[in-house]
Amino acid sequence: MTRIEDEFARFEHEGWQRVADNYDSVWSSLTRQFIPYLIDAAQIAPAMSVLDVACGPGYVSAAARQLGAIPTGVDFSSEMVAIANRIFPEIDFIEGDAQKLPFADASFDRVLMNFGLLHLSRPEKACSEAFCVLRAGGKFGFTIWAEPRENPGGKIVNDAIEAHADLNVDVPQGPSKFAYAEKEECRKALQRNGFDGGSMIFQTRCVEWNVPTPRYLFEAERDAGVRTAGLLARQTSDRLDAIMRATEDGVRHYAKGDRFVIPMAAHVIVVSKNS
Ligand SMILES: C[S@@+](CC[C@H](N)C(=O)[O-])C[C@H]1O[C@@H](n2cnc3c(N)ncnc32)[C@H](O)[C@@H]1O
Repeated sequence: MTRIEDEFARFEHEGWQRVADNYDSVWSSLTRQFIPYLIDAAQIAPAMSVLDVACGPGYVSAAARQLGAIPTGVDFSSEMVAIANRIFPEIDFIEGDAQKLPFADASFDRVLMNFGLLHLSRPEKACSEAFCVLRAGGKFGFTIWAEPRENPGGKIVNDAIEAHADLNVDVPQGPSKFAYAEKEECRKALQRNGFDGGSMIFQTRCVEWNVPTPRYLFEAERDAGVRTAGLLARQTSDRLDAIMRATEDGVRHYAKGDRFVIPMAAHVIVVSKNS
């Protein structure tokens, strides 16, 4: 079992263990859409060794394998690892912490992390771990959500929380979710951890998330998320109801036929380790 070092990481770990069963059906239709961009920007090619950090149910690993690369997935949630092993039995998935990777230095050609960095208590440590396990000339690629002003779907939830939530509830505080969302700050952070800042690719991609009901987004955050779910779980029922209604109103703006098509934007970032 992974040893968890701090309160925020413990909170995240408990959360992912709890929601692992829901993650695939609730979020994968969204997070998987960014994988082709990530794989493409990181230039994954046949025979490359690829580490998929915070792998969840293993979609990045599966996409890398389809290209002929040799993936390994790592996640600190044993439940996620069990699901990944069940869905993709031909791939190696192991339990481990992104902030203390259980691999020798210079083991991989690529390290990828799809929507993992924003869940970490020490994202810089995860960057330095990625740097260590990469071979010289390798690349580190990751995705993170864009800030609400650039991300319509994220803005719906953010605005509803800002308007109606009590933010002074007792929930473990982690680093800003958007710590790497500003391009030059991101470059500096990667440089501090040894990467070649000049090589950084920083793309913003927007996809369409097709959901069945106006309530889907709220329910996804409440029932299959971790960080926002922790905040929602600590609200009074009146506040929770107001957040739900505001989120539903936001989603209704994106009605298309009998569905709702929400634009969701994320940054795809890739940086090299010099040879
Ligand atoms: C939003 S999910 C992303 C899953 C997957 N990468 C995807 O593409 O959908 C975040 C994942 O990060 C994992 N995670 C969070 N903190 C971690 C840590 N410190 N070490 C390893 N995995 C972690 C969670 O268990 C969860 O599976």
